[in-house]
Amino acid sequence: MNKTKKITLKTFRFNAETDYLPYYKHYEMEVGKDELILDLLNRIKWEHDGSFSYRRSCRHGICGACGIKVNGKATLACKQNALELVALFGDELVIEPQSKKRAVKDMIIDKEDFWKKHDTVLPYVVTDVDPHPEHETKQSIADFNNFLDSDLCIQCGLCYYSCPAVEVNPDFLGPAAFNSAYRFTVDPRDEASKERLEITGAMGQGVWNCVKCFECAQACPKDINPIEKITKLHNMEFVAGTAESNVATRHAEGFVRSIKKYGLLDEADIVLYSEGYLGMFKHLGTAIDMMKSGKIHWHSGIPFIDSVPKIKNLDEVQKLIEISQTHTL
Ligand code: SF4
Ligand code: SF4
Ligand code: FES
Repeated sequence: MNKTKKITLKTFRFNAETDYLPYYKHYEMEVGKDELILDLLNRIKWEHDGSFSYRRSCRHGICGACGIKVNGKATLACKQNALELVALFGDELVIEPQSKKRAVKDMIIDKEDFWKKHDTVLPYVVTDVDPHPEHETKQSIADFNNFLDSDLCIQCGLCYYSCPAVEVNPDFLGPAAFNSAYRFTVDPRDEASKERLEITGAMGQGVWNCVKCFECAQACPKDINPIEKITKLHNMEFVAGTAESNVATRHAEGFVRSIKKYGLLDEADIVLYSEGYLGMFKHLGTAIDMMKSGKIHWHSGIPFIDSVPKIKNLDEVQKLIEISQTHTL
């Protein structure tokens, strides 16, 4: 059995000090079954071009330095087997930095925006520590398990630079910052949870601007699932009473309202409730498409015409909501 495979690395090259535009260089190499993407980056540098630049430190998926993109896929270079990606993408691997527009030199990017946003959410336990404590601060296993996976974040930035909301909205704090916010907000020792929820709940920068595309969950090499933490923060905003009434929070309320009333989603009512009549007008094009496909009817959303059918056993659904709802909207 052939233990190696000949592949081409089409590699992004750019030096912000000397190049006006980036370009790609091709490197051919025989790759063994145990080689990682980081091994291939090392081989470019050691065997082909000593000026090739990238970040790496631990080689064990701990320091978060070696995040890049391979054929557009967010990749932690020291964790990813190279031939697995060849099986996925073919014999040419396209090696690029996490964010081409932030490239400083080859794979090295300027992560200033990432770190600034991380800093914004107070990513540490805020509390007055007794300088002479009589005993350690104890924590229950349940409390610990509540933030265990979010604590595994290595700040690699892979989720952040895969997030489409970050690309279109420079104020959006992004999945890694929200994950950190969640981690410290649920820590029972912390005393800044309200402040943190206000920061992460603010429109424009906060969790309500997430478009729920799940890219961050796909990208995370530590299986942290930042979108799950974002959803928990949504809930925590309501529980803590920090959620402001805006189109996003009313949209969330609209779901529960509709299920409580009909056991079904009343799409027209959700738009009316969250955006008002002006908002309905804004979505007229979509509404017409939805009417054509039978999702809503011409009389949907008109006051006093209650045309949405109710499910059988609606009372059971209402009871379930009553039992499981931890807060009033
Ligand atoms: S789910 Fe939200 S935070 Fe995650 S990548 Fe999509 S928009 Fe960004
Ligand atoms: S949440 Fe995952 S992908 Fe995002 S910075 Fe942390 S470890 Fe990296
Ligand atoms: S080199 Fe540290 S995470 Fe890859």
